[in-house]
Amino acid sequence: MLVTSRSYAEYEAMFDLTELPESILDCCAGGAGFTAEAAARGVDAIAADPAYELEPAELVDTVRRSLPATAGIVDEHSGSFVWHWYGSPERKDQFRIEAADTFLQDVSVAPERYVAAGLPELPFGDRRFELVLCSHLLFTWADKYDRDWHLAPLRELIRVSNREVRIFPLVMQGAGEPVPYLPELLAALDGITWEVRKVPYEFQVGANEMLVLTRS
Ligand SMILES: C[S@@+](CC[C@H](N)C(=O)[O-])C[C@H]1O[C@@H](n2cnc3c(N)ncnc32)[C@H](O)[C@@H]1O
Repeated sequence: MLVTSRSYAEYEAMFDLTELPESILDCCAGGAGFTAEAAARGVDAIAADPAYELEPAELVDTVRRSLPATAGIVDEHSGSFVWHWYGSPERKDQFRIEAADTFLQDVSVAPERYVAAGLPELPFGDRRFELVLCSHLLFTWADKYDRDWHLAPLRELIRVSNREVRIFPLVMQGAGEPVPYLPELLAALDGITWEVRKVPYEFQVGANEMLVLTRS
């Protein structure tokens, strides 16, 4: 799986972040620049990802390698992507390069913000974060992970959230096919209220919605 580096601007649009709460967890943060930028805005921001177990040089290499690899996936499925949000491939690359730089700088000066951990078990207390974000892990890899695999991570994200969990996108990697078992999965989320909400971002065609989870 790629350890990608989406930028603060991409997170802001994917999750329709009009205001920032006091605390935010980005879980599967990878090389994203969000946590560093949110912390710079005064948020108690934490990033979690199993990739943070890598040795520093290997993490740098893994994050840097994701840019050409992502471009390759986009080329392979070019008819499945739209460019109105980014404007051009060059601007998208610029966002990702800057975000990777921001991440790599921050992880070296503030390592306490980057926790090596993975779903479905996070080392945080119940209701620790006002907002929990999950970009491009759940649903994205639904071609590899089945319905039952998704259930425990969704419950874990809700456990560590005090207010809301937001997940983007709701389609699979590559061609952006819908997740075949999504309705069935949502129906199985007992004790959790869910809402699919439009966001001001689209890259995979039609992937302009996030899932918002709250406790029932
Ligand atoms: C495609 S990247 C997304 C990174 C970042 N959120 C972004 O939008 O650019 C997927 C990330 O999920 C992480 N990951 C893989 N398995 C995970 C798990 N079980 N729990 C949390 N993160 C996981 C990978 O290490 C990788 O960094």
